[in-house]
Amino acid sequence: MNVIVTKSYEDSCQRAAELIEAAVLANPQAKLGLATGGTPLPIYRRLIEDCKAGKISFAKVRTVNLDEYCGLNGSNTQSYRWFMDHNLFNEIDIDKTNTYVPSGLGDLAANCREVDKKVRENGVPELQLLGIGNNGHIGFNEAADLLHTETHIEQLTESTIAANARFFDKPEAVPTQAITMGLSSILAAKSIVLVATGAAKAAAIRGLLCNDEVTTQNPSTFLKLHPNATVIIDAALATAAGYEN
Ligand code: GLP
Repeated sequence: MNVIVTKSYEDSCQRAAELIEAAVLANPQAKLGLATGGTPLPIYRRLIEDCKAGKISFAKVRTVNLDEYCGLNGSNTQSYRWFMDHNLFNEIDIDKTNTYVPSGLGDLAANCREVDKKVRENGVPELQLLGIGNNGHIGFNEAADLLHTETHIEQLTESTIAANARFFDKPEAVPTQAITMGLSSILAAKSIVLVATGAAKAAAIRGLLCNDEVTTQNPSTFLKLHPNATVIIDAALATAAGYEN
């Protein structure tokens, strides 16, 4: 595992944006695996700035997102499709038909199969961007006694619902289920970049970086099995997690 400890979250986002842009410069038709949540927002803002400044083009890039809430359609402002459109896709030169966000509506079993097909068809993602939940979840693969390898429907834990409630009017409005790539769909990417910040992530990051154990109770630990995973954290989180270079 490559670990980068930066001075600040802002620097972490800069490093992540550079890695994404390097993947696109190396292959303008790269497939990118993308993530939602608060953490990637400054990364997406940098990609937008650089695209508007003519430093990078996403015209031929294809994207596939990790997950989506069940029951929300893409015009719902809390859906991950809406998030991606408004925080990235609408602001860069990407062809929207080359962007894919799982659907949490209709035939969910068919939607799950479609996600796994999208991950693998015409090559796996060059790079998968990840955030991490307070309990170590990646995508929406919750800490549990067992994890799934393929895309599936996940029952969200109270802790995840509580953490994500800040994006909703009221906690009861947070969907209780989500469609998410499984561990093997995520680990299929050629490279993985996980960005984390904030003391709430300290326990999860400690499990990820401070020992060689893999546990379903911290799904992020499965990244230890990937040959090219990079974790970017700021110095404050490194200290809180007890991580020493
Ligand atoms: C959600 C998303 C994850 C994300 C996590 C952390 O549960 N499904 O992909 O990593 O939240 O989000 P944040 O970056 O807002 O802390």
